[in-house]
Amino acid sequence: MHIACIMDGNGRWATRRQLPRTAGHTAGEENLAEIVRACVRRRVDWLTVFGFSTENWVRPRGEIRHILGLHRKLFGRVEELNDLDVRIQWIGRPFDDPEARTPRYVQRAIERAIDDTRHNKGMTLTVAFDYGSRAEIVDAARRVIESGEAIDESALTRHMYLPDLPPVDVLVRTSGEQRVSNFLLWQTQGAPFHFTEKTWPELDEAEVDRAIALAVSHHGRPTNDR
Ligand code: IPE
Ligand code: IPE
Ligand code: MG
Repeated sequence: MHIACIMDGNGRWATRRQLPRTAGHTAGEENLAEIVRACVRRRVDWLTVFGFSTENWVRPRGEIRHILGLHRKLFGRVEELNDLDVRIQWIGRPFDDPEARTPRYVQRAIERAIDDTRHNKGMTLTVAFDYGSRAEIVDAARRVIESGEAIDESALTRHMYLPDLPPVDVLVRTSGEQRVSNFLLWQTQGAPFHFTEKTWPELDEAEVDRAIALAVSHHGRPTNDR
């Protein structure tokens, strides 16, 4: 079972409580830790979340700085991830890409977390940071051409940022927005979408169960079952 989430609505969660948007991002990071635990309990094997897009760099500098700090915190949760037997991965524009903008301290946190959790065999948590699906597909096409292979679906799949990422079984987007915003366009082909009015910090286990039920009813059986 592969669940992918567009974690939207942190800003609205905060604004409704008369808090700064940054407080919404903090609450969102904390709820992600809850959702990870909920998914582990349900024996979900793949959870992929959209943390920051290639389009999000236009946000105010202070908000970006806060979000960067939260990603360092998220990738710093190594002990917790090891206790849960969760392997963490990152998906995004390669750090050596001329357009990549992830600062070195976040790169280091990402690299360290990947290395320190690589032996875990339970769930794989993939965090998309500085990620854009169109850029990923364009890069994949370039690499297929460079390799001299014929361009077909299997060649493109093999040249995605994370070729081992299985197809998505259900895409969740919070906060009432019904769009994909350049997230996993290739990998969500054919997947049902679960939209909820709840903001990301409010997403709960019951909603995770609804998403799983949608995936199962779509396939007629659980997929990629461990
Ligand atoms: C999602 O929440 C977090 C990121 C995109 C980084 P938003 O910050 O988009 O929250 P809203 O959509 O403004 O409520
Ligand atoms: C999508 O949310 C990206 C992430 C959740 C990281 P946005 O809030 O940035 O998306 P749009 O711009 O409203 O579609
Ligand atoms: Mg948003």
